[in-house]
Amino acid sequence: MPGDSGHDITMVTCTAPVNIAVIKYWGKRDEDLILPINSSLSVTLHQDQCVSLTFRLLQLKSTTTVACSPRFKEDRIWLNGKEENINQPRLQSCLREIRRLVRKRHIDGNVSSSALSSHHKVHICSVNNFPTAAGLASSAAGYACLVYSLARLLGAEGELSEVARQGSGSACRSMYGGFVQWRMGTQRDGTDSVAQQVEPESHWPELRVLILVVSAERKPVGSTAGMETSVRTSSLLKHRAERVVPQRMEEMVHAIRQKDFAAFGELTMKDSNQFHATCLDTYPPIFYLNDVSRHIISLVHRYNQHCGETRVAYTFDAGPNAVIYALQQHISEFVELLKYFFPTETNGEFLKGLPVSSVTLPEDLTKAIGMEPLPGGISYIISTKVGPGPQVQEDPSLHLLGPGGMLKVNA
Ligand code: DP6
Repeated sequence: MPGDSGHDITMVTCTAPVNIAVIKYWGKRDEDLILPINSSLSVTLHQDQCVSLTFRLLQLKSTTTVACSPRFKEDRIWLNGKEENINQPRLQSCLREIRRLVRKRHIDGNVSSSALSSHHKVHICSVNNFPTAAGLASSAAGYACLVYSLARLLGAEGELSEVARQGSGSACRSMYGGFVQWRMGTQRDGTDSVAQQVEPESHWPELRVLILVVSAERKPVGSTAGMETSVRTSSLLKHRAERVVPQRMEEMVHAIRQKDFAAFGELTMKDSNQFHATCLDTYPPIFYLNDVSRHIISLVHRYNQHCGETRVAYTFDAGPNAVIYALQQHISEFVELLKYFFPTETNGEFLKGLPVSSVTLPEDLTKAIGMEPLPGGISYIISTKVGPGPQVQEDPSLHLLGPGGMLKVNA
């Protein structure tokens, strides 16, 4: 029997990571099945960073406990401590698809007598541990975690990324660690629109990631609504999906396999820029970048130009926060540049997560960059790296639901 049983309740707790696309998903060809108009590729971020200076463990993940019992009368869900509507269509799609996979396994006879039934109701409790100001797509980690936990609990086998995709498109890529591609597929039923690992997290250990938290403001247009308007109105998006992304995907896979940072970085920046160009080409236009974002873009290009090579790359999703990729040996100098050009205005910790050693900036460097500092532009930085996919938590004390299957007080 999977999980941890108390009387007739079976319970499983899992965590799932955040992913950051380097080839962006933007636009659906089927809204219900969440089928994209182009393939995409992302880097899975590590779930646990080191203890920060304030001695709090910085986490970038979703945690979900799912429980199942013949005594439960209905499916229920609690998100970040509050009960939410279980009838939300995307949630229902995931529950339906997981139960379909469980039934399939039973029909195939590929199951032990103690396996749980697809008829049993489930209780779900999920929390996001990442700072909301970081603007990271919580839906990707959240749906990946939900699908992975339910599959573990009920013993569903099969293409789980196809199920997670129906919760939120980008969630399918959080089902794996390392470097992950989501192939758009061509089938109308979406059976070939799945995520695949390109390389595991151990492949490129020198690759480091910085999340530059620019603003805590809510994004003006959500991804789902934004991409829907782009598909309807942007001819640039159509050109991108048909003529640009297919080749870019191949080049990106090659750059990752070869650990060619210059190619990886250039493709990442170009793809981020084209995504934001399609947002501007959307009618009415969508603006996700702000002045600080543009300042970061200038700093990266001026720095790379000064160095005579691509050492640092940026990417931006549906918001103003930047995600920076760089190799370990260049991260310290770039963080010093960020401290210089975006001096902090508070006493709070500016750099959280993995430690970055301090270096002295060469005198000519800040002059050569030639930009005006923008005090307070960046609230703080999270330093992290590439990480693994969803994980089962074996320690029962980590369950977010109590032994009766109801929300724990502190969850
Ligand atoms: C800009 O996966 O959040 O982050 O499928 O409608 O839930 P839905 O959208 P979502 O879109 C993510 C868009 C993006 C790019 C990316 O992650 O590829």
